[in-house]
Amino acid sequence: MTSTVLLTGGTGTLGRLVAPLLRAAGADVRVLSRQTHESADGVEYVTGDLATGAGTAAAVAGADVIVHCAGSAKGDDVKTRHLVDAATAAGRPHLVSISVVGADRTPVVSGLDRAMFGYVAAKRAAERIVAESGLPWTTLRATQFHELTLTTARAMARLPVLPAPAGFRIQPVAAAEVAGRLAELALAGPAGLAAEMGGPRTYEMRDVLRGYLEATGRRRPVVPVRLPGRAAAAFRAGANLAPEHAVGRQTWEDFLAGQAALV
Ligand SMILES: NC(=O)c1ccc[n+]([C@@H]2O[C@H](COP(=O)([O-])OP(=O)(O)OC[C@H]3O[C@@H](n4cnc5c(N)ncnc54)[C@H](OP(=O)(O)O)[C@@H]3O)[C@@H](O)[C@H]2O)c1
Repeated sequence: MTSTVLLTGGTGTLGRLVAPLLRAAGADVRVLSRQTHESADGVEYVTGDLATGAGTAAAVAGADVIVHCAGSAKGDDVKTRHLVDAATAAGRPHLVSISVVGADRTPVVSGLDRAMFGYVAAKRAAERIVAESGLPWTTLRATQFHELTLTTARAMARLPVLPAPAGFRIQPVAAAEVAGRLAELALAGPAGLAAEMGGPRTYEMRDVLRGYLEATGRRRPVVPVRLPGRAAAAFRAGANLAPEHAVGRQTWEDFLAGQAALV
């Protein structure tokens, strides 16, 4: 039977890699976006905004599976609530979500924590909304994507002095590999909390920044900055890492080597 999959975030870094995999598996794919898009490559686009709930009911209608890749710096809990409410009213589609490694073990308790790690707290709240929704569900937690690591390094390299959060490590993973796993999970039955997915190696944040500066021929100081608060302490202790699930294959170095131009 051909299934209909609603893919939120299907225009983003991760979701745009998931769409062709679902198509190749024979699914009808509908992408929800805040922008209008021409349907292409067998993918239908519908317009809506998960932050307000506009267009969400029409987007979920008739979906057998929802792959939820929409996300932003703020309000992923609210977006997920709107999606879950619409999905519950529409039937009982299997809801497959992406979350972040460390969401469950990063205490975001003070205003300071919230200012710096509110994103992680919202992902944790979104996880709970999904798990308590009554819908059949699967949630995959992944470490930071190579693509985000590169965006961060690029942005910081514009500064005359690069502040590196002292003691922070990252375990970047290829978004393409996470997309492959998400598509597999979407085509299978509900699995609840799936095994975490991390990249093959762990790096000190300062080394990633220094490596990027070197690769782009810049000479700038990288200065360690000790971030206050409990959430930052949890990151220093490795809450955002999944060393026991270092299943990704593409290393950060391989990813950088594959970039046409490093600027
Ligand atoms: N980046 C990472 O390192 C990383 C690691 C682990 C997990 N994740 C999670 O993976 C997901 C995707 O990340 P990404 O890096 O692919 O993000 P991205 O490239 O920034 O793309 C974000 C996507 O979310 C959609 N979106 C944002 N706000 C929306 C709203 N209000 N209503 C509907 N759609 C909305 C955007 O669609 P339109 O702009 O077309 O509306 C876009 O397709 C997020 O949930 C993120 O938390 C990311």
